[in-house]
Amino acid sequence: MTRTVYVNGQYLPENEATVSIFDRGFLFADGVYEVTSVIGGKLLDFDGHAVRLERSLNELEMAHPVTKDELLEIHRQLVERNEITDGLVYLQITRGAADRDFAYPKDAEPTIVLFTQNKPGLAQSPVADKGMKVISIEDQRWGRRDIKTVQLLYPSMGKMAAKAQGADDAWMVQDGFVTEGTSNNAYIIKDNVLITRHLGNEILHGITRKAVLEFARVAQITVEERSFTMEEAKAADEAFITSATTFVMPVVQIDDTPIGSGQPGPLTKRLREIYLEESIKAAV
Ligand code: PDD
Repeated sequence: MTRTVYVNGQYLPENEATVSIFDRGFLFADGVYEVTSVIGGKLLDFDGHAVRLERSLNELEMAHPVTKDELLEIHRQLVERNEITDGLVYLQITRGAADRDFAYPKDAEPTIVLFTQNKPGLAQSPVADKGMKVISIEDQRWGRRDIKTVQLLYPSMGKMAAKAQGADDAWMVQDGFVTEGTSNNAYIIKDNVLITRHLGNEILHGITRKAVLEFARVAQITVEERSFTMEEAKAADEAFITSATTFVMPVVQIDDTPIGSGQPGPLTKRLREIYLEESIKAAV
């Protein structure tokens, strides 16, 4: 099936949608993005993604091509036109096309692109039952990971390094402390305390992270937002990741070390259930 995508105000068949070769997203990775999950035809945590998008644009002094209401309407149109029950909506905004120059152009029109990905059964992933294996790698990304830019080559290299070792993903380490996964936030649980890195420029401020920490607090789970080392992670009772596309996903092995029993942990399972139940209930 040919998807309908959205480019700069138009809904087009995917093979007719084009962006300039001078687009700064293409030349400089001068663009930001969001990925929003769709379950049962509805958008999970749309507001959170819209708010973070605005922040990313502001941090890069980039123009806002659409209002939040317009953005919601575009998301809904694409979900409907592509008959997405379970899947994703990908959104990218770049500074637009301009003659190549490191300085930001003054008059470029931002480029806005959205497309869907169909993922039937997104919430029933078999990985949730068996857990993921991660490897540790050094964090060699740039210093503004709080901005959700499209420069994803290092995370992509990390994912490939993980695959080469028969693992699912990589957790990145900076100055001895875990920052996050290639495309997700990282958590450990020790003695019933949930530990995840504090917010700052070193990690992306995950929308799922925010929701999961709130649900954890409501469920009377103690939360510590602080740095933790790989050694601490390997000695944890449970570990997991969160992202808009994986929700809460157990980690059962780091490098060669099984975490806890080597099976998805009970608190992780509970948090996944609560997250899915509550976010699907609140979906728009
Ligand atoms: N990635 N950290 C990084 C580096 C990420 O790329 C992501 C999301 C997250 C989790 O953020 P959220 O809960 O808001 O999805 C953390 C998306 C899913 C992606 O690139 O596909």
